[in-house]
Amino acid sequence: MLRRAAGFCLLGSLTTVPGLLVGWTSRMASKPSFRSASRAFTMCSPVPGQESPIGMCSASLAPSTESPSAWSGDLLVVPIWEADTIDLSDDLSQLDIAIGGALAGLIADHEFKGKAGSSAVVSLPTGTSARRIAIIGLGKETDFSQTAARKCGASLASIIITQKAKVVGAALPGAVEDKLHQAVLEAALIGLSPDMRYKSSLEGEESKMPKLEKLDLLGASQQAITAAQTVAAGMLLTRGLVGSPPNFLTPTAMAETAASLASEFDTLSLKVLEQADCEALGMGAYLGVSQGACEPPKFIHLQYTPAGPVEKRIALVGKGLTFDSGGYNLKAGAGSMIEKMKFDMGGAGAVLGAARAIAGLAPSGVQVNFIIAACENMLSAEAMRPGDILIASNQKTIEVINTDAEGRLTLADALVYAEGLGEMDAIVDIATLTGACIIALGPDYGGLWSSDEELSARLLKSASDAGELLWAMPLAKEYMEQIKSPIADLKNVGDRGGGSITAALFLKEFVKETPWAHMDIAGPVWDDKKGGATGYAVRTLSEFALSYSS
Ligand code: BES
Ligand code: MN
Ligand code: ZN
Repeated sequence: MLRRAAGFCLLGSLTTVPGLLVGWTSRMASKPSFRSASRAFTMCSPVPGQESPIGMCSASLAPSTESPSAWSGDLLVVPIWEADTIDLSDDLSQLDIAIGGALAGLIADHEFKGKAGSSAVVSLPTGTSARRIAIIGLGKETDFSQTAARKCGASLASIIITQKAKVVGAALPGAVEDKLHQAVLEAALIGLSPDMRYKSSLEGEESKMPKLEKLDLLGASQQAITAAQTVAAGMLLTRGLVGSPPNFLTPTAMAETAASLASEFDTLSLKVLEQADCEALGMGAYLGVSQGACEPPKFIHLQYTPAGPVEKRIALVGKGLTFDSGGYNLKAGAGSMIEKMKFDMGGAGAVLGAARAIAGLAPSGVQVNFIIAACENMLSAEAMRPGDILIASNQKTIEVINTDAEGRLTLADALVYAEGLGEMDAIVDIATLTGACIIALGPDYGGLWSSDEELSARLLKSASDAGELLWAMPLAKEYMEQIKSPIADLKNVGDRGGGSITAALFLKEFVKETPWAHMDIAGPVWDDKKGGATGYAVRTLSEFALSYSS
Protein backbone atom coordinates (compact mmCIF):
# COMPACT_ATOMS: atom_id res chain seq x y z
CA MET A 1 0.00 0.00 0.00
CA LEU A 2 2.68 2.39 1.10
CA ARG A 3 4.79 1.38 -1.84
CA ARG A 4 2.06 2.22 -4.35
CA ALA A 5 2.08 5.79 -3.11
CA ALA A 6 5.78 6.16 -3.74
CA GLY A 7 6.72 8.50 -6.54
CA PHE A 8 8.57 5.98 -8.62
CA CYS A 9 5.42 4.00 -9.38
CA LEU A 10 3.72 6.90 -11.11
CA LEU A 11 6.88 7.83 -12.87
CA GLY A 12 7.37 4.30 -14.01
CA SER A 13 3.92 3.94 -15.46
CA LEU A 14 4.40 7.06 -17.52
CA THR A 15 7.72 6.01 -18.94
CA THR A 16 6.74 2.47 -19.77
CA VAL A 17 3.81 3.37 -22.04
CA PRO A 18 5.36 3.20 -25.49
CA GLY A 19 4.74 6.18 -27.70
CA LEU A 20 2.78 8.05 -25.08
CA LEU A 21 4.69 11.26 -24.66
CA VAL A 22 3.22 12.77 -21.58
CA GLY A 23 4.56 14.30 -18.40
CA TRP A 24 8.25 14.22 -18.03
CA THR A 25 8.58 11.75 -20.84
CA SER A 26 7.87 14.47 -23.37
CA ARG A 27 10.22 16.78 -21.56
CA MET A 28 12.85 14.16 -21.97
CA ALA A 29 12.10 13.70 -25.66
CA SER A 30 12.60 17.40 -26.30
CA LYS A 31 16.06 17.41 -24.80
CA PRO A 32 18.76 18.13 -27.37
CA SER A 33 20.63 14.94 -28.06
CA PHE A 34 24.09 16.33 -27.35
CA ARG A 35 23.18 16.92 -23.72
CA SER A 36 23.07 13.28 -22.91
CA ALA A 37 25.64 12.03 -25.32
CA SER A 38 24.71 8.54 -24.21
CA ARG A 39 26.62 5.94 -26.14
CA ALA A 40 28.31 2.71 -25.45
CA PHE A 41 31.61 3.13 -23.74
CA THR A 42 33.89 1.14 -25.93
CA MET A 43 37.61 0.87 -25.85
CA CYS A 44 37.54 3.35 -28.72
CA SER A 45 37.44 7.07 -28.57
CA PRO A 46 34.02 8.66 -28.11
CA VAL A 47 35.09 11.74 -30.04
CA PRO A 48 34.12 11.28 -33.69
CA GLY A 49 37.08 10.96 -36.01
CA GLN A 50 39.50 10.54 -33.14
CA GLU A 51 41.20 7.21 -33.36
CA SER A 52 43.13 7.15 -30.11
CA PRO A 53 41.75 4.64 -27.67
CA ILE A 54 42.38 4.12 -23.99
CA GLY A 55 42.82 0.53 -25.03
CA MET A 56 46.00 -1.19 -24.13
CA CYS A 57 49.02 0.09 -26.01
CA SER A 58 49.21 -1.93 -29.19
CA ALA A 59 52.91 -2.78 -28.99
CA SER A 60 53.78 -6.45 -29.10
CA LEU A 61 55.23 -7.83 -25.88
CA ALA A 62 57.39 -10.92 -25.97
CA PRO A 63 59.55 -12.81 -23.51
CA SER A 64 63.23 -12.98 -24.39
CA THR A 65 66.07 -15.09 -23.09
CA GLU A 66 68.69 -12.86 -24.67
CA SER A 67 71.30 -11.36 -22.36
CA PRO A 68 71.35 -7.54 -22.12
CA SER A 69 74.69 -7.43 -23.95
CA ALA A 70 73.31 -9.38 -26.92
CA TRP A 71 70.02 -7.47 -27.29
CA SER A 72 69.78 -4.93 -30.10
CA GLY A 73 67.24 -2.16 -30.66
CA ASP A 74 66.41 1.49 -29.80
CA LEU A 75 66.51 1.44 -26.06
CA LEU A 76 67.71 -1.08 -23.51
CA VAL A 77 66.37 -0.62 -20.00
CA VAL A 78 68.06 -2.32 -17.07
CA PRO A 79 66.89 -2.28 -13.47
CA ILE A 80 69.41 -1.83 -10.68
CA TRP A 81 69.13 -2.63 -6.96
CA GLU A 82 69.80 0.16 -4.51
CA ALA A 83 73.27 0.25 -2.92
CA ASP A 84 75.79 2.85 -1.80
CA THR A 85 78.20 1.54 -4.39
CA ILE A 86 76.49 -0.23 -7.24
CA ASP A 87 77.89 -3.68 -7.84
CA LEU A 88 77.02 -4.77 -11.37
CA SER A 89 75.69 -8.29 -11.78
CA ASP A 90 77.54 -10.64 -14.17
CA ASP A 91 75.06 -9.91 -16.93
CA LEU A 92 75.43 -6.17 -16.51
CA SER A 93 79.22 -6.32 -16.22
CA GLN A 94 79.27 -8.14 -19.53
CA LEU A 95 77.01 -5.49 -21.00
CA ASP A 96 79.21 -2.74 -19.60
CA ILE A 97 82.23 -4.26 -21.31
CA ALA A 98 80.28 -4.59 -24.58
CA ILE A 99 79.35 -0.91 -24.51
CA GLY A 100 82.76 0.38 -23.55
CA GLY A 101 82.02 1.20 -19.91
CA ALA A 102 78.99 3.38 -20.70
CA LEU A 103 76.91 1.76 -18.00
CA ALA A 104 79.46 2.37 -15.23
CA GLY A 105 79.86 5.89 -16.64
CA LEU A 106 76.13 6.53 -16.50
CA ILE A 107 75.98 5.34 -12.89
CA ALA A 108 78.94 7.50 -11.87
CA ASP A 109 77.81 10.63 -13.75
CA HIS A 110 74.38 10.55 -12.14
CA GLU A 111 75.67 9.43 -8.74
CA PHE A 112 73.05 6.76 -9.28
CA LYS A 113 72.28 4.76 -6.16
CA GLY A 114 69.37 2.67 -7.44
CA LYS A 115 66.73 4.45 -5.38
CA ALA A 116 63.19 3.34 -6.24
CA GLY A 117 61.76 5.63 -8.92
CA SER A 118 65.14 7.08 -10.01
CA SER A 119 66.37 6.66 -13.56
CA ALA A 120 68.95 7.87 -16.08
CA VAL A 121 69.46 7.49 -19.84
CA VAL A 122 72.45 7.80 -22.15
CA SER A 123 73.00 7.37 -25.89
CA LEU A 124 75.53 4.77 -26.93
CA PRO A 125 78.14 5.13 -29.65
CA THR A 126 77.22 3.65 -33.02
CA GLY A 127 78.41 0.11 -33.35
CA THR A 128 76.89 -1.04 -30.07
CA SER A 129 73.80 -3.19 -30.36
CA ALA A 130 71.46 -0.93 -28.34
CA ARG A 131 71.28 2.73 -29.38
CA ARG A 132 70.48 4.01 -25.89
CA ILE A 133 70.60 2.55 -22.43
CA ALA A 134 68.45 3.48 -19.44
CA ILE A 135 68.83 2.43 -15.83
CA ILE A 136 65.95 2.26 -13.38
CA GLY A 137 66.40 2.19 -9.62
CA LEU A 138 64.56 -0.66 -7.90
CA GLY A 139 65.15 0.30 -4.28
CA LYS A 140 66.66 -2.20 -1.83
CA GLU A 141 66.58 -5.84 -2.90
CA THR A 142 65.36 -6.88 0.55
CA ASP A 143 62.42 -4.41 0.35
CA PHE A 144 61.30 -5.40 -3.13
CA SER A 145 57.52 -5.63 -3.06
CA GLN A 146 54.40 -5.11 -5.15
CA THR A 147 54.74 -1.36 -4.57
CA ALA A 148 58.38 -1.23 -5.67
CA ALA A 149 57.61 -3.44 -8.66
CA ARG A 150 54.83 -1.11 -9.77
CA LYS A 151 57.09 1.92 -9.36
CA CYS A 152 59.59 0.17 -11.62
CA GLY A 153 56.90 -0.49 -14.24
CA ALA A 154 55.74 3.12 -14.13
CA SER A 155 59.34 4.33 -14.61
CA LEU A 156 59.76 1.94 -17.53
CA ALA A 157 56.66 3.36 -19.22
CA SER A 158 57.64 6.96 -18.68
CA ILE A 159 61.16 6.38 -20.07
CA ILE A 160 59.73 4.65 -23.15
CA ILE A 161 57.43 7.63 -23.72
CA THR A 162 59.94 10.42 -23.10
CA GLN A 163 62.58 8.63 -25.18
CA LYS A 164 60.06 8.10 -28.01
CA ALA A 165 61.47 4.60 -28.27
CA LYS A 166 60.01 2.14 -30.77
CA VAL A 167 61.93 -1.06 -30.13
CA VAL A 168 62.69 -1.55 -26.46
CA GLY A 169 64.38 -4.30 -24.51
CA ALA A 170 63.58 -4.29 -20.83
CA ALA A 171 65.42 -6.55 -18.43
CA LEU A 172 63.25 -7.56 -15.49
CA PRO A 173 64.57 -7.68 -11.94
CA GLY A 174 66.38 -10.99 -11.47
CA ALA A 175 65.61 -13.66 -8.88
CA VAL A 176 62.14 -12.43 -7.95
CA GLU A 177 58.82 -14.25 -8.17
CA ASP A 178 56.80 -14.23 -11.36
CA LYS A 179 54.02 -12.29 -9.55
CA LEU A 180 56.40 -9.35 -9.18
CA HIS A 181 57.33 -9.47 -12.86
CA GLN A 182 53.61 -9.41 -13.55
CA ALA A 183 53.27 -6.32 -11.31
CA VAL A 184 56.08 -4.52 -13.20
CA LEU A 185 54.39 -5.30 -16.51
CA GLU A 186 50.90 -4.28 -15.37
CA ALA A 187 52.19 -0.90 -14.23
CA ALA A 188 54.15 -0.46 -17.47
CA LEU A 189 51.09 -1.25 -19.58
CA ILE A 190 48.97 1.21 -17.61
CA GLY A 191 51.63 3.90 -17.99
CA LEU A 192 51.83 3.23 -21.73
CA SER A 193 48.08 3.73 -22.25
CA PRO A 194 47.21 7.40 -21.78
CA ASP A 195 43.57 8.43 -22.00
CA MET A 196 43.18 10.55 -25.14
CA ARG A 197 39.54 9.69 -25.84
CA TYR A 198 38.27 13.17 -25.25
CA LYS A 199 40.90 15.06 -27.23
CA SER A 200 39.63 16.13 -30.64
CA SER A 201 43.10 15.70 -32.06
CA LEU A 202 46.42 14.31 -30.93
CA GLU A 203 48.24 17.41 -32.18
CA GLY A 204 50.26 18.82 -29.33
CA GLU A 205 49.83 15.56 -27.38
CA GLU A 206 52.76 13.76 -29.02
CA SER A 207 54.87 14.01 -25.89
CA LYS A 208 52.34 11.85 -24.04
CA MET A 209 51.87 9.19 -26.70
CA PRO A 210 54.14 6.14 -26.70
CA LYS A 211 55.77 5.32 -30.05
CA LEU A 212 56.47 1.80 -28.83
CA GLU A 213 56.09 -1.00 -31.37
CA LYS A 214 57.92 -3.88 -29.75
CA LEU A 215 58.87 -4.60 -26.18
CA ASP A 216 61.23 -7.51 -25.50
CA LEU A 217 61.07 -8.58 -21.90
CA LEU A 218 64.40 -10.08 -20.89
CA GLY A 219 63.91 -12.74 -18.25
CA ALA A 220 60.10 -12.65 -18.25
CA SER A 221 57.89 -15.69 -18.66
CA GLN A 222 55.09 -15.75 -21.23
CA GLN A 223 52.74 -16.54 -18.37
CA ALA A 224 53.63 -13.35 -16.48
CA ILE A 225 53.17 -11.31 -19.66
CA THR A 226 49.77 -12.82 -20.47
CA ALA A 227 48.51 -12.44 -16.90
CA ALA A 228 49.71 -8.83 -16.82
CA GLN A 229 47.96 -8.07 -20.11
CA THR A 230 44.73 -9.59 -18.80
CA VAL A 231 44.75 -7.70 -15.52
CA ALA A 232 45.86 -4.45 -17.18
CA ALA A 233 42.96 -4.74 -19.63
CA GLY A 234 40.60 -4.92 -16.64
CA MET A 235 42.23 -1.91 -14.98
CA LEU A 236 42.13 0.07 -18.21
CA LEU A 237 38.44 -0.66 -18.59
CA THR A 238 37.87 0.62 -15.05
CA ARG A 239 39.99 3.70 -15.61
CA GLY A 240 38.19 4.39 -18.86
CA LEU A 241 34.81 4.08 -17.21
CA VAL A 242 35.64 6.09 -14.09
CA GLY A 243 37.36 8.79 -16.15
CA SER A 244 34.44 9.18 -18.53
CA PRO A 245 32.29 12.26 -18.08
CA PRO A 246 28.77 11.67 -16.83
CA ASN A 247 27.13 12.79 -20.07
CA PHE A 248 28.96 9.98 -21.89
CA LEU A 249 29.01 7.33 -19.22
CA THR A 250 25.30 7.18 -18.40
CA PRO A 251 23.65 4.14 -16.77
CA THR A 252 22.65 3.09 -20.30
CA ALA A 253 26.25 3.31 -21.51
CA MET A 254 27.36 1.29 -18.49
CA ALA A 255 24.84 -1.43 -19.35
CA GLU A 256 26.13 -1.40 -22.93
CA THR A 257 29.67 -1.84 -21.64
CA ALA A 258 28.51 -4.88 -19.68
CA ALA A 259 26.84 -6.15 -22.86
CA SER A 260 30.05 -5.79 -24.83
CA LEU A 261 31.92 -7.76 -22.16
CA ALA A 262 29.26 -10.46 -22.33
CA SER A 263 29.67 -10.70 -26.08
CA GLU A 264 33.45 -10.78 -25.79
CA PHE A 265 33.56 -13.75 -23.36
CA ASP A 266 31.52 -16.96 -23.66
CA THR A 267 31.80 -17.35 -19.90
CA LEU A 268 29.98 -14.06 -19.23
CA SER A 269 26.21 -13.73 -19.45
CA LEU A 270 24.20 -10.59 -18.85
CA LYS A 271 20.82 -9.66 -17.48
CA VAL A 272 19.76 -6.01 -17.35
CA LEU A 273 16.70 -5.09 -15.30
CA GLU A 274 14.84 -2.05 -16.60
CA GLN A 275 13.03 0.38 -14.32
CA ALA A 276 9.77 -1.57 -14.61
CA ASP A 277 11.54 -4.80 -13.63
CA CYS A 278 13.01 -3.08 -10.60
CA GLU A 279 9.59 -1.72 -9.66
CA ALA A 280 8.20 -5.24 -9.85
CA LEU A 281 10.91 -6.35 -7.41
CA GLY A 282 10.00 -3.47 -5.09
CA MET A 283 13.39 -1.78 -5.28
CA GLY A 284 12.07 1.46 -3.80
CA ALA A 285 15.37 2.57 -2.27
CA TYR A 286 17.31 2.33 -5.55
CA LEU A 287 14.48 3.83 -7.59
CA GLY A 288 14.02 6.62 -5.05
CA VAL A 289 17.55 7.78 -5.86
CA SER A 290 17.02 7.49 -9.60
CA GLN A 291 13.63 9.17 -9.76
CA GLY A 292 14.93 12.71 -10.19
CA ALA A 293 16.96 11.83 -13.28
CA CYS A 294 16.04 11.84 -16.97
CA GLU A 295 18.52 9.06 -17.71
CA PRO A 296 16.80 5.73 -17.04
CA PRO A 297 18.26 3.46 -14.35
CA LYS A 298 19.86 0.18 -15.40
CA PHE A 299 20.24 -2.70 -12.96
CA ILE A 300 23.11 -4.76 -14.30
CA HIS A 301 23.75 -8.41 -13.44
CA LEU A 302 26.71 -9.92 -15.24
CA GLN A 303 27.65 -13.49 -14.40
CA TYR A 304 30.89 -15.39 -14.88
CA THR A 305 30.37 -19.14 -15.06
CA PRO A 306 33.50 -21.31 -15.28
CA ALA A 307 33.81 -24.11 -17.80
CA GLY A 308 33.70 -27.01 -15.29
CA PRO A 309 31.55 -27.57 -12.21
CA VAL A 310 30.68 -24.66 -9.90
CA GLU A 311 31.81 -25.20 -6.31
CA LYS A 312 31.76 -21.65 -4.95
CA ARG A 313 29.56 -18.66 -5.73
CA ILE A 314 30.37 -15.07 -4.91
CA ALA A 315 28.78 -11.70 -5.67
CA LEU A 316 30.60 -8.42 -6.23
CA VAL A 317 28.25 -5.46 -5.91
CA GLY A 318 29.43 -2.04 -7.14
CA LYS A 319 27.99 1.39 -6.39
CA GLY A 320 27.10 2.80 -9.79
CA LEU A 321 26.17 6.46 -9.48
CA THR A 322 27.20 7.78 -12.89
CA PHE A 323 26.74 11.21 -11.35
CA ASP A 324 26.01 12.30 -7.78
CA SER A 325 24.80 15.90 -7.56
CA GLY A 326 23.71 15.28 -3.98
CA GLY A 327 20.08 15.81 -5.01
CA TYR A 328 18.15 18.37 -2.89
CA ASN A 329 21.03 18.20 -0.43
CA LEU A 330 23.01 19.59 -3.32
CA LYS A 331 26.78 19.32 -3.24
CA ALA A 332 27.12 23.09 -3.06
CA GLY A 333 29.74 23.76 -0.41
CA ALA A 334 33.39 24.47 -1.17
CA GLY A 335 35.22 21.17 -1.29
CA SER A 336 32.10 19.15 -2.07
CA MET A 337 33.82 18.02 -5.29
CA ILE A 338 30.61 17.99 -7.29
CA GLU A 339 32.59 18.21 -10.54
CA LYS A 340 34.38 14.99 -9.60
CA MET A 341 31.20 13.04 -8.98
CA LYS A 342 31.52 11.17 -12.25
CA PHE A 343 33.78 8.92 -10.18
CA ASP A 344 30.83 7.93 -8.00
CA MET A 345 30.53 4.80 -10.15
CA GLY A 346 34.05 3.80 -9.12
CA GLY A 347 32.75 0.69 -7.36
CA ALA A 348 30.82 -0.33 -10.46
CA GLY A 349 33.84 0.48 -12.59
CA ALA A 350 36.02 -1.78 -10.44
CA VAL A 351 33.42 -4.54 -10.66
CA LEU A 352 33.29 -4.35 -14.48
CA GLY A 353 37.08 -4.17 -14.72
CA ALA A 354 37.30 -7.20 -12.43
CA ALA A 355 34.76 -8.96 -14.67
CA ARG A 356 37.04 -8.42 -17.64
CA ALA A 357 40.13 -9.57 -15.72
CA ILE A 358 38.40 -12.58 -14.17
CA ALA A 359 36.87 -13.70 -17.47
CA GLY A 360 40.34 -13.38 -19.01
CA LEU A 361 42.03 -15.33 -16.22
CA ALA A 362 39.21 -17.91 -16.33
CA PRO A 363 39.39 -19.41 -12.83
CA SER A 364 37.71 -22.80 -12.43
CA GLY A 365 35.16 -23.80 -9.83
CA VAL A 366 33.93 -20.33 -8.93
CA GLN A 367 30.90 -18.49 -10.25
CA VAL A 368 31.17 -14.71 -9.93
CA ASN A 369 28.15 -12.39 -10.03
CA PHE A 370 28.80 -8.74 -10.88
CA ILE A 371 25.91 -6.57 -9.76
CA ILE A 372 25.39 -2.85 -10.31
CA ALA A 373 22.33 -0.72 -9.57
CA ALA A 374 23.32 2.09 -11.94
CA CYS A 375 21.60 5.48 -11.88
CA GLU A 376 22.10 9.21 -11.45
CA ASN A 377 21.37 11.24 -8.32
CA MET A 378 19.81 14.38 -9.78
CA LEU A 379 17.72 17.25 -8.67
CA SER A 380 14.34 17.97 -10.24
CA ALA A 381 10.66 18.30 -9.43
CA GLU A 382 10.48 14.50 -9.44
CA ALA A 383 13.55 13.97 -7.28
CA MET A 384 13.25 12.41 -3.84
CA ARG A 385 12.92 14.91 -1.01
CA PRO A 386 14.68 14.99 2.33
CA GLY A 387 12.07 13.45 4.60
CA ASP A 388 10.74 10.96 2.04
CA ILE A 389 10.35 7.40 3.25
CA LEU A 390 11.47 4.73 0.81
CA ILE A 391 10.67 1.04 0.97
CA ALA A 392 13.47 -1.31 -0.02
CA SER A 393 12.96 -4.68 -1.66
CA ASN A 394 13.34 -6.48 1.69
CA GLN A 395 10.42 -4.32 2.93
CA LYS A 396 12.59 -2.25 5.25
CA THR A 397 11.53 1.40 5.40
CA ILE A 398 14.11 4.18 5.18
CA GLU A 399 13.69 7.80 6.12
CA VAL A 400 15.76 9.91 3.75
CA ILE A 401 17.37 12.48 6.01
CA ASN A 402 19.93 13.48 3.42
CA THR A 403 19.51 12.91 -0.33
CA ASP A 404 23.29 12.96 -0.67
CA ALA A 405 23.59 9.70 1.27
CA GLU A 406 22.27 7.97 -1.85
CA GLY A 407 24.87 5.28 -2.47
CA ARG A 408 23.69 3.16 0.47
CA LEU A 409 20.12 3.40 -0.85
CA THR A 410 21.07 1.98 -4.24
CA LEU A 411 23.29 -0.66 -2.62
CA ALA A 412 20.53 -1.71 -0.23
CA ASP A 413 18.41 -3.11 -3.08
CA ALA A 414 21.45 -4.46 -4.89
CA LEU A 415 22.50 -6.41 -1.76
CA VAL A 416 19.00 -7.82 -1.31
CA TYR A 417 19.08 -8.90 -4.95
CA ALA A 418 22.52 -10.51 -4.54
CA GLU A 419 21.45 -12.51 -1.51
CA GLY A 420 18.23 -13.43 -3.31
CA LEU A 421 20.31 -15.28 -5.93
CA GLY A 422 20.72 -17.88 -3.19
CA GLU A 423 23.57 -19.85 -1.68
CA MET A 424 26.34 -17.30 -2.03
CA ASP A 425 29.62 -18.02 -0.27
CA ALA A 426 30.29 -14.29 -0.03
CA ILE A 427 28.85 -10.94 -1.03
CA VAL A 428 31.26 -8.02 -1.28
CA ASP A 429 30.09 -4.52 -2.07
CA ILE A 430 32.45 -1.82 -3.19
CA ALA A 431 31.58 1.85 -3.21
CA THR A 432 32.75 5.46 -3.22
CA LEU A 433 30.45 5.71 -0.25
CA THR A 434 31.62 8.40 2.17
CA GLY A 435 33.83 11.44 2.37
CA ALA A 436 34.25 10.35 6.00
CA CYS A 437 36.30 7.36 4.87
CA ILE A 438 38.82 9.75 3.29
CA ILE A 439 38.96 11.66 6.56
CA ALA A 440 39.54 8.43 8.48
CA LEU A 441 42.09 6.74 6.22
CA GLY A 442 43.45 9.45 3.94
CA PRO A 443 43.34 9.36 0.16
CA ASP A 444 45.22 6.11 -0.56
CA TYR A 445 43.58 3.45 1.62
CA GLY A 446 40.29 1.72 1.04
CA GLY A 447 38.27 0.88 4.16
CA LEU A 448 36.99 -2.64 4.82
CA TRP A 449 34.06 -3.68 6.99
CA SER A 450 32.84 -7.22 7.40
CA SER A 451 30.50 -9.34 9.44
CA ASP A 452 32.77 -12.33 8.89
CA GLU A 453 36.34 -12.76 10.13
CA GLU A 454 37.30 -15.29 7.50
CA LEU A 455 36.00 -13.13 4.67
CA SER A 456 37.72 -10.05 6.07
CA ALA A 457 41.05 -11.89 6.29
CA ARG A 458 40.63 -13.23 2.76
CA LEU A 459 40.01 -9.74 1.35
CA LEU A 460 42.95 -8.23 3.25
CA LYS A 461 45.20 -10.95 1.88
CA SER A 462 43.86 -10.43 -1.64
CA ALA A 463 44.60 -6.70 -1.35
CA SER A 464 48.10 -7.23 -0.04
CA ASP A 465 48.86 -9.82 -2.75
CA ALA A 466 47.56 -7.30 -5.27
CA GLY A 467 49.58 -4.40 -3.88
CA GLU A 468 46.49 -2.34 -3.04
CA LEU A 469 46.07 -0.54 0.28
CA LEU A 470 43.10 -1.73 2.33
CA TRP A 471 42.46 -1.34 6.06
CA ALA A 472 39.95 -3.13 8.29
CA MET A 473 37.50 -0.85 10.12
CA PRO A 474 35.05 -1.74 12.90
CA LEU A 475 31.43 -2.59 12.27
CA ALA A 476 30.65 -0.83 15.56
CA LYS A 477 27.24 -2.02 16.70
CA GLU A 478 27.32 0.73 19.37
CA TYR A 479 26.55 3.24 16.62
CA MET A 480 23.54 1.40 15.30
CA GLU A 481 21.29 3.70 17.37
CA GLN A 482 22.42 6.59 15.17
CA ILE A 483 20.65 5.22 12.11
CA LYS A 484 17.37 4.23 13.76
CA SER A 485 14.53 6.48 12.68
CA PRO A 486 11.68 7.46 15.00
CA ILE A 487 9.23 7.06 12.12
CA ALA A 488 10.74 4.40 9.83
CA ASP A 489 12.98 1.36 10.34
CA LEU A 490 16.14 3.19 9.42
CA LYS A 491 17.35 6.63 8.49
CA ASN A 492 19.97 7.03 5.84
CA VAL A 493 22.53 9.01 7.86
CA GLY A 494 23.99 8.98 11.34
CA ASP A 495 26.11 11.59 13.14
CA ARG A 496 29.05 13.30 11.51
CA GLY A 497 31.70 11.42 13.48
CA GLY A 498 32.20 7.85 12.26
CA GLY A 499 30.19 8.52 9.11
CA SER A 500 31.83 5.70 7.17
CA ILE A 501 30.99 3.24 9.98
CA THR A 502 27.29 4.10 10.13
CA ALA A 503 27.19 3.83 6.33
CA ALA A 504 28.55 0.27 6.65
CA LEU A 505 26.07 -0.52 9.45
CA PHE A 506 23.26 0.67 7.19
CA LEU A 507 24.32 -1.70 4.40
CA LYS A 508 24.53 -4.63 6.80
CA GLU A 509 20.77 -4.30 7.38
CA PHE A 510 20.22 -5.52 3.83
CA VAL A 511 22.11 -8.80 4.12
CA LYS A 512 20.63 -11.53 6.27
CA GLU A 513 23.04 -14.40 6.70
CA THR A 514 25.49 -14.54 3.82
CA PRO A 515 29.09 -13.64 4.75
CA TRP A 516 29.29 -10.02 3.65
CA ALA A 517 31.95 -7.34 3.35
CA HIS A 518 31.95 -3.71 2.32
CA MET A 519 34.80 -1.73 0.80
CA ASP A 520 34.69 2.07 0.85
CA ILE A 521 36.96 3.33 -1.94
CA ALA A 522 36.08 7.05 -1.82
CA GLY A 523 39.80 7.87 -1.40
CA PRO A 524 41.75 5.57 -3.70
CA VAL A 525 39.30 5.66 -6.63
CA TRP A 526 40.90 8.87 -7.85
CA ASP A 527 44.36 10.43 -7.73
CA ASP A 528 45.10 13.61 -9.64
CA LYS A 529 48.83 12.90 -9.34
CA LYS A 530 48.34 9.58 -11.12
CA GLY A 531 46.21 11.07 -13.89
CA GLY A 532 42.78 10.67 -12.27
CA ALA A 533 41.03 7.32 -12.20
CA THR A 534 43.33 4.73 -10.62
CA GLY A 535 41.60 1.43 -11.37
CA TYR A 536 41.78 0.68 -7.64
CA ALA A 537 40.30 -2.65 -6.48
CA VAL A 538 40.35 -4.42 -9.86
CA ARG A 539 43.36 -6.39 -8.73
CA THR A 540 42.05 -7.03 -5.20
CA LEU A 541 38.70 -8.26 -6.53
CA SER A 542 40.38 -10.44 -9.14
CA GLU A 543 42.71 -11.99 -6.54
CA PHE A 544 39.71 -12.46 -4.29
CA ALA A 545 37.76 -14.34 -6.97
CA LEU A 546 40.84 -16.43 -7.80
CA SER A 547 41.15 -17.37 -4.12
CA TYR A 548 37.89 -19.35 -4.46
CA SER A 549 39.13 -21.18 -7.54
CA SER A 550 39.46 -24.95 -7.24
N1 BES B 1 29.63 9.91 -3.30
C1 BES B 1 29.62 10.52 -2.03
C2 BES B 1 30.84 10.18 -1.18
C3 BES B 1 32.10 10.89 -1.58
C4 BES B 1 32.29 12.22 -1.22
C5 BES B 1 33.09 10.22 -2.25
C6 BES B 1 33.47 12.84 -1.56
C7 BES B 1 34.28 10.85 -2.57
C8 BES B 1 34.46 12.16 -2.24
C9 BES B 1 28.40 10.04 -1.23
O1 BES B 1 27.28 9.80 -1.98
C10 BES B 1 28.07 11.15 -0.30
O2 BES B 1 27.69 12.18 -0.76
N2 BES B 1 28.21 10.88 0.99
C11 BES B 1 27.96 11.85 1.97
C12 BES B 1 27.23 11.18 3.10
C13 BES B 1 26.66 12.15 4.09
C14 BES B 1 25.54 12.92 3.49
C15 BES B 1 26.20 11.35 5.28
C16 BES B 1 29.30 12.41 2.42
O3 BES B 1 30.27 11.66 2.51
O4 BES B 1 29.38 13.61 2.66
MN1 MN C 1 26.10 11.52 -2.29
ZN1 ZN D 1 27.55 9.26 -3.91
